[in-house]
This record gives sequence, C-alpha cells and structure tokens, in this order.
Amino acid sequence: MQKKDFTDIGDGSSLYMEEARGQATRAPRPAQAVPSKPAAALPEAKAPEYKYIGKPTRRIDGREIVTGRAKYTQDIKLRGMLIGKILRSPHAAAEVVSIDLAPALALPGVHAALKLAEGKVRYAGQQVAAVAAVDERTAEKALALIKVEYKTLPYVVDWERAREASAPQVRDDKPNVEKINEYVRGDIEKGFAEADVVVERTYRTGFEVHHPTETHGSVASWEGDHLVVYDSTQNVHGVRDGLARALKVPAANVTVIKNYMGGGFGSKLGLNEQTVVAANLAREIGRPVKVLNARRDNAVCVGYRPSSHQTYKVGAKKDGTLVAFSLLNYASGGVGAGDDVAEPVVDVYKCPNCKVEEHTVYTNVGGSRAMRAPGHTQGAFGLESLMDELAAALDMDPLELRKKNYSTKNLGDTGLPYSTKGLDKCYELGAKAIGWERRNRRPGEGNGSGTIRRGIGVATSIWFGAGVPGTLADVVLYPDASVEVVCGTQDLGTGTRTHMAVVAAETLGLEPNDITIKIGNSDYPWAPSSGGSLTTPSVAPAVRDAALKAVERLKALAAARLEVDAGDVVMADRTFSSKGDPAKSVPFAEVYRDLRRETPFHGERSGMPRDQYAFNTFGAHFAEVEVNVETGRVRVLKYVAAQDSGRIVNKLTAESQVVGGVTQGLSAGLFEERIMDDATGNVVNPNLRDYKIATSLDIPEITPIFVDVFDPRINNLGVKGLGEPARVPSSAAIANAVYNAIGVHVREIPMTPKRVLEALKRKEAGS
Ligand code: MOS
Repeated sequence: MQKKDFTDIGDGSSLYMEEARGQATRAPRPAQAVPSKPAAALPEAKAPEYKYIGKPTRRIDGREIVTGRAKYTQDIKLRGMLIGKILRSPHAAAEVVSIDLAPALALPGVHAALKLAEGKVRYAGQQVAAVAAVDERTAEKALALIKVEYKTLPYVVDWERAREASAPQVRDDKPNVEKINEYVRGDIEKGFAEADVVVERTYRTGFEVHHPTETHGSVASWEGDHLVVYDSTQNVHGVRDGLARALKVPAANVTVIKNYMGGGFGSKLGLNEQTVVAANLAREIGRPVKVLNARRDNAVCVGYRPSSHQTYKVGAKKDGTLVAFSLLNYASGGVGAGDDVAEPVVDVYKCPNCKVEEHTVYTNVGGSRAMRAPGHTQGAFGLESLMDELAAALDMDPLELRKKNYSTKNLGDTGLPYSTKGLDKCYELGAKAIGWERRNRRPGEGNGSGTIRRGIGVATSIWFGAGVPGTLADVVLYPDASVEVVCGTQDLGTGTRTHMAVVAAETLGLEPNDITIKIGNSDYPWAPSSGGSLTTPSVAPAVRDAALKAVERLKALAAARLEVDAGDVVMADRTFSSKGDPAKSVPFAEVYRDLRRETPFHGERSGMPRDQYAFNTFGAHFAEVEVNVETGRVRVLKYVAAQDSGRIVNKLTAESQVVGGVTQGLSAGLFEERIMDDATGNVVNPNLRDYKIATSLDIPEITPIFVDVFDPRINNLGVKGLGEPARVPSSAAIANAVYNAIGVHVREIPMTPKRVLEALKRKEAGS
C-alpha cells in the first residue's frame, strides 16, 4: 500500500491507520483468514515489580500548566509578529471567478495578502484568501475588503440525498458513492443456512466534531533559509516533512515546535492549511506570522468523525454460537473519505463466516479527519448493539453471549493468535464492579416504577496500540548528576513528559522530578505521531532502552572505582555498591562526575514478532443508566471501564485517559451532533453553545480498572496504548444500558430525547 502523504486535509482516518496498525498493511484484506503459523505457547511471564512504573505519579509539569506558565501555541509572541487571517467560502460549491486583494492591501497596517483558491471551491469554509496585518482587528477588516466573485454551483450537504442519482456530483474525479472496503471470510450463505436465529438491524452514528480545547494554530518565522514553526500539532516530524514538501524547501531547513497542547483527538495529525498559510505569509513579508483558528473554523474546516449507516445481519445457533455476520455500511466524510467501521465485526468475535461491504458518500462539506479510534467507535456501536439484540432474541445473558464467542486469534488482519488478550479478565472484573447481576434479566423487564427505568449494559473494545518500532530517544547524563531525556515526541495533554520521566527515573534509580524532559521539537530524535494510541508504547520502550544503556555505563565507571566487576555493581539509594561487599560504595554524584562531559545514550524501540502474533488492546465497559420514559432523557449513573492495555506506566494519567475516553463516548452517545443546513450548505451549529458537549454535571462516577496483563513480547516494558481503547465501546455500553432499561434499542447516536421517545413509540407499536 502506498504510504499516504502526511497532510491532514480531509482524508478521514486513512492518514494514520497504517501506523496505528503497526504498519500491518490493510488493503487488500485477505479473502480468507491466513492460516496461522504454529506459535509457541505463551511463556508464564511475570511482570517485574517496579517502584514508579504502574504506580500513580503526579504530572511533573502540572504546576507549570495550572499556573499558566506553560506556553501553548496561542501564547507564542515573537518580535515583529503579524496576525494572519483566512477568508473562507460562504458557498458550498462555487466557481471562483476572481479575487481582488488590492482593497485589502491598501488598508494601513496590512502587510501581505494571498490568493488561496483557484477554480472550484467544494465546501463552505474552504480557504479562499489570506492576509497578514499588524493586529487582529486590522486583519479582520482587510478580509472584509477582499472582493471575491463567485459563480455558485449546485451542491449537496445532505448525505442521504447525495446518494440519489439526481444529486450534484461533489468531486470531479469520482461519483458520490464509492466502495472503500470489502472483506470476505468463509461462506456467509452457508453460515446463515445453518443459523437457528437470524437478526438484521441498521444502526446509525452522526457527525462528531473533535473540538479540542485549544483550536488549531501556527506561528511561522523565517531565520534566513530556516523556517521555525510553532504549531498545535500531534506530529512535529510529520508537519516538518509536510511543510518541506509544500514549500519546496529541504526538511533539514524546517523545525517544528510544540511545547504544550490543548488536545487534538486526531484533528491535528498532519499538516494543516493554516500552517502553510502562516509560513507563506511570513516568507513574503520577512516577519513572523501567527494564524489561529477561531472556534467556528474548527467546526467547519478541520474535520470531524464521519457518520455511518451500518446494516448488519447475524446468524447464531440456539446456544449462541455465531455462524455468520454480514455488514453493509455507508459513511460520509464530506469531500474526503468516510471511515471503514468493520474492524470490530471482523475481529472481536469468533465467527467462521463474515462478509463486509463499505461505501463512502461524498458531500459538499469539509473533509473528515481521524477521530479517536476512527471507525472503531462507530463499528463498536453497531456491532455491540447488535450483540445485545441477538442476546435478547436468544434469551441469553449478553455477557455470556460475548464470552461464548471469545476469540484468541486476530481473524481479520492476520489470522495470528494474540500475543496476550486480557479481555476475559476485563469482563470478569468489570461485571463484578458494576454489579452485573442487578441488570434486568430481559431488556425492559422489572426495572423501576413511575417514569424512571434503570438498566445496565456492556460493550467490548478492540484497538491496535502496539507502538512503532524504530522510535528513538536519548538519555543524556551530565557530570553534575543531572539527567535529561530528549525525544521528538509530543504531549497532547496526556502526560507524555511524566511517563517518560517515570521510565527514566525507574531505570536510573532516580525520582521522576529529577529528570528534565525535552520533547515537542522536530530536531529531536524521531518519534511517530501522537495518534493511534502510539505515544507511550513507542516512546517509553525507547527511553527504557537508552536508560538501560546509561546504567550499564555508570556501572562500568562505578566498577572501576570500586575495583569490582561491573556485573557485581548494585544500584540503590543513589549509590553504587559492591554486591559482595556492600560497605564498598560510591555515590551517584562521583560516578557521574567521571563522565567529564554530557554523554548521550541512544535508545530505540525494538521490533516485535509480528509474523507470529497479533498485538492488540482490549476493554470491556459497563454502564448503568436511568431513562425518563416521559421526557426521553438519559442519565448515566455509574460507569466501569476495564482495560487491557498491557503494563500501565503511570496509573494517574492512565486513569485520566479512561475518564476522558468514557466522557467523550458518553457525550457522543447522548449529545454531540454536527448539523448541516441544506438551504445554505453551512454548518448550523459551529460553536460550543449549539453543539452540545457533556459537562461535569453529565458525568457519573467512572471506575477505571486495569487488568495489567504483561506482554513480554511487545516491548521491553510490556506496555500498550490506551487513549483510544478507552473511547471505543463507551457510546455502545450506554446504548445497551438504555436498551436494558426500556426494552427497545435506540439504534442511533446521539440518543437525544427525541430519538428515545421515537424508540419507545416503536416499542408500543410492537415493531
Ligand atoms: Mo488519533 S484519531 O489522534 O488517536
């Protein structure tokens, strides 16, 4: 498969899925599952006991963040800096006949203007022109002075209508409906013929916008031929390479810096248009230029999670054994591609026969982008809802149905056994923590009185998160016994600095606060994008590797002083001592001094036996809800999220990831929906007042559980990713809890009161 250009301009999730999968090429999928190579049985691996790894450690940069000293991209001010602004098309489809920049350039305080659109614009919000001025107000005024002549064209923003033959064609290069995924395993006709029970359902998910707290933004500054860009990005190396290509300059002449960031969720994975605009304006004027997105820009032109209409058919034996699955999906990602959502149905449950067909539907809407577990959250909502409706048809416990079809192999991608899979433990511990036995035995039966109904639901998660081999990190020891860790990774707000410090401190016999962390700079050693739940399983093992090398060297220096073999040197309490004669010891400070100058140790994240094992992350989420059957309002009362993400590095920030993932899934499940206006082709709710996001009042008690299954093959720490796994099943678990409460499945998220009441009417009508 051709590696995609690392620009993030509306191409859905395809951009980083290859990396998320650990370079396991996806397309074309094998027609049949590859027969698995005989793999050695898993050795009884016991994880070593650590002092910091796996324990809760407070963020080493927490004070800096909460006191406002941490510099985000928005805070960057450079001498002589100008403010750039982008003019966007108000039309969903138009021919740009002419752009007259002269009136804008004539305004005092305006230093440069650029034309950005040529020919057609295909969505409202597409960039048309840009200016740089002394301040924001002048830039705004200048935008209003630019004269653009449009010849409007027919458009379609309603993705149902876009499928009709009479709809305007969105893209010149292809029709509005395009097949994006096909997969077959076994023979589904035969499978359905063998089934005792067949259930067929359609589930729908809406458009969910990333809306990170910090909007997208860039500050570009040229120092001679060298471009320095401060960018709110999930990928400093990717943006550097993308910028070098876009500006036709060597990558060696570009530095991308991102110190702190207020979230991205996938919308900042690649090069953004505003970054290129800032760099071009800065080059033209010879002064630094800052371009920040307004909240509205973030709602119209930097992506969202594509919608889906998933029609499933499942066949099962009376005892719950799955015999056939089929999925027909339509997804919309505007002018870009939608997500394929099939991974859960292909991989989560053991089922010999499976057939998938997926299509994307193009519309005159800004392109989608990867959003926290792209495709998987939609697919998990569909599949897990279906499993509960099947369980009801079989009169089975939904958890038993899931356990009955437990798969120890990755059936879709590789056919290989999972290196480790702690999902069974997640089911067990999660069910216990929520009180699974309290659920209604059948959906909607025996659950409260008056207008309130209560229910409990479960849903399963699968994701990648194995990390990227080849990730680099340096540990630098200084003669004054200070230590620095340098890596070109970045912190999206997840606590990257702290997990790196934890690993370095653990290995070097220091404390996390002793370690100076340098990240967020493309001049530092290579690390992958912080997407795909890749950061910790890529970076932590590289830091570990570098720190182990540093310890080896320190021990050799200590051995010389102690006059023993390096193998006989013990490290404890900031001293090195002789194993045989503990009285013989030398403090850290003296040994470090022997280095004489700062000394870097290079670490690398090693590979894993991908030809023998599949490496995935898992989880089981349990929700308890209360539904008001008169108003249709859903309230989540209690939530348990059990995760298998291998060894946890920092329990505190790991719990934050789980709470965040659950919150985001709750919000998407109940509230969030971007709405398009057919009459104008624009987003109706491009702000945080009309686009509803869950607040703290909507969030119940959330209990994260880590089953801590140690994977000895995946990397030197046994760690896997967590950010996305915690998001995958959360909307689905809530939907199943609602089903358990009211006895009818809502089948579409967000489950607004209107949709809940419609479902209840459907139940009354007996359909
Ligand atoms: Mo991602 S969709 O940035 O993990």
